[in-house]
Amino acid sequence: MALDIIIGAQWGDEGKGRMVDTLAAHAAIVARFSGGDNAGHTVTVGDEVFKLHLIPSGMIHPHSIGVIGNGVVVNPETLLAEMKKLEDKGIDVSPARLKISYGAHIITPAHRALDAAQEAARGTGQIGTTLRGIGPAYVDKVARRGLRIGEMSDPESFADRIKAHVEFTNQRLTKLYGAEPLDAESTAAQFTEYARILGPYTADTGSLIDQALKKGERVLAEGAQGTLLDIDHGSYPFVTSSSPTAAGAISGLGAGIQHIGEIVGVTKAFQTRVGEGAMPTELEGETAGRLRGSGANPWDEFGTTTGRPRRVGWLDLMLLRYAARINGFSKLAITKLDILSGIDPLKVCTGYTAGGRRYSDLPHGLTGLENFEPVYEDVPGWQEDVSGARRWEDLPAAAQNYLRKIEQVGGVPVGWVSVGPEREQLVVIAG
Ligand code: IMP
Repeated sequence: MALDIIIGAQWGDEGKGRMVDTLAAHAAIVARFSGGDNAGHTVTVGDEVFKLHLIPSGMIHPHSIGVIGNGVVVNPETLLAEMKKLEDKGIDVSPARLKISYGAHIITPAHRALDAAQEAARGTGQIGTTLRGIGPAYVDKVARRGLRIGEMSDPESFADRIKAHVEFTNQRLTKLYGAEPLDAESTAAQFTEYARILGPYTADTGSLIDQALKKGERVLAEGAQGTLLDIDHGSYPFVTSSSPTAAGAISGLGAGIQHIGEIVGVTKAFQTRVGEGAMPTELEGETAGRLRGSGANPWDEFGTTTGRPRRVGWLDLMLLRYAARINGFSKLAITKLDILSGIDPLKVCTGYTAGGRRYSDLPHGLTGLENFEPVYEDVPGWQEDVSGARRWEDLPAAAQNYLRKIEQVGGVPVGWVSVGPEREQLVVIAG
């Protein structure tokens, strides 16, 4: 069996949690490999809606072990709160089922305070971060002064390290940003307590994954955020601070590249984005309202982590093709096709223009994306409600045609189409 990787093909929020839940049905391990509690994965099972930020969505299946890999940044406070919520719903999150890499880095309140202070200081140039301390935690990691989960096994030196980290960050908070300092002593005491609770969860998760793969078990790498938010390949600087791409899965889990099976790119049937940065196909007005929804349903286009209304627009196939190239997608999973029912005609972006020139490929990745105008093709819409479709043949011809267009321009076959939030509202396409 193989390491299958699920990747967001857009700016996050593609419905990866739902696809992970579906594909985890046969996975022994489901592993998060990048980002932290900036992610928000929603999974609906019957009447229950699970909103997860850090714990792999696949853990909702009783047979899967959840791994938080070395590439993740972990806020112990939000992790423990999430564990409690799942326990309250009867889901086992004991150390036998949840493993955290000793190499994962820790997010502290000092990181969060710094995230907020830096965003405020950016003024009109804000990135629109989730304010979860993600960027500052990765900065500490790369600067080689980060705090790792493995350090929790030595409470005394861990407390000293936390104190030193808070004192160091206080210097930056107060002197650079005029922000309030944090109390180093109480933070250290708090984190010593977290260490006591989380100690039994610490593991060599890379080795666990390797053993599972060698035993012939399936491992699912659960992407967070999306390709267009990648620190290297995204719309820099309006990106997150990690690598939510297929390559990030390999380094963020410490898994061998030879094990890769499917690389599934998840994309909505339209485009969304939260936070700042260019979005060439962004829409306003009535169609935008239809795509976004009112906010009454958990699957409407409002952030799971921040509650912010998402920007919405027509599906950008230029960007999908780019994401397919960066990740090497073997299949696509299209989500929220049902939302397009009743919009006719639909539009998809198949090219860009800039300075009177037409582009069918991006000249410098996503650099200067704001300078490009989308070129649209009209595609006939459909009126039928598709939420009951379970097979390709159940879909109206116009919906099939829309999906074929995505395959043709994106260059990757479609394997799954979700037509509603429930587990079973899925069209599985053979082949
Ligand atoms: P950060 O990851 O909190 O530093 O935020 C950086 C950018 O990534 C901002 O534009 C966020 O809105 C965006 N972002 C981070 N996590 C997610 C996610 O899970 N879904 C969508 N956007 C995200």
